[in-house]
Amino acid sequence: MKGVILAGGLGTRLYPLTHATNKHLLPVFDQPMVYYPIQTLVRADIKNIMVVTGGPYAGDFIRVLQNGEDFGVEHLEYAYQEDGEGGIADALRLCEDFADGEGITVILGDNCTDANISKEVKNFKGGALIFLKEVPDPRRFGVPVFDKSGKKIIKIEEKPKDPKSNYAVTGLYVYDNKVFGYIRKIKPSRRGQLEITDVNNLYLKAGKLDWSVLRGFWSDAGTAESLYRTGVYWARKILGKKEKNLTNFDD
Ligand code: DAU
Repeated sequence: MKGVILAGGLGTRLYPLTHATNKHLLPVFDQPMVYYPIQTLVRADIKNIMVVTGGPYAGDFIRVLQNGEDFGVEHLEYAYQEDGEGGIADALRLCEDFADGEGITVILGDNCTDANISKEVKNFKGGALIFLKEVPDPRRFGVPVFDKSGKKIIKIEEKPKDPKSNYAVTGLYVYDNKVFGYIRKIKPSRRGQLEITDVNNLYLKAGKLDWSVLRGFWSDAGTAESLYRTGVYWARKILGKKEKNLTNFDD
């Protein structure tokens, strides 16, 4: 299975931090943000990876990631998303040649998790697989609507005002090669982007969308608040429990 990291977009929600660098190169504790999705893929034994980036600082990725050897990546390719923020599905569209008829595991460049998805990737049999995580603020995410059994997703709503569940659709997806045909079918949303949620809803309509709950810590780091929270999580994990007081600066 090949892997894709989507690190395009302009990171405008993080202005002024992203005026002079790409969002995915900002620090999350002691590593640039993009290290985390790479490590998630490598942990799942995915070592053939394409990074899609964009914007004025795209060249800096090569300096930071080089050929990926330090991460255990065997083959690293780059693609450039033109026109700023065409959307997640617009960035994924650029990976069709790289996928070369195979399935792909996709992770958003601002998603930081210590989950291990190797079992799910190994058992993937086609269609689409999404990973859900219970969150306190579902309005910020794609949110699944379940049927009465609570087991079957009937729809995914993007940033709903009135979320029908407490789950976020995380930015981790496994797709078969039909994903590129589905991307060609969707139209830009009201915010002018090709939405990954529309792609997932097409899989759902075809009866080919499966889901799993992500075990472990997961957060995006695309807002000042979530960037901070994610950094604190990793600081505590690395420095140990005795550093629980990381936010106490009295002494
Ligand atoms: O983090 C999970 C959420 O990510 C999902 O729950 C949502 O369904 C999904 O739409 C997405 O929502 P966000 O509003 O958080 O996406 P954002 O625009 O922040 O983009 C997330 C990453 O996707 C970004 O770090 C890089 C990549 N991206 C995004 C855009 C808009 C691209 O590569 N190109 C783009 O044009």
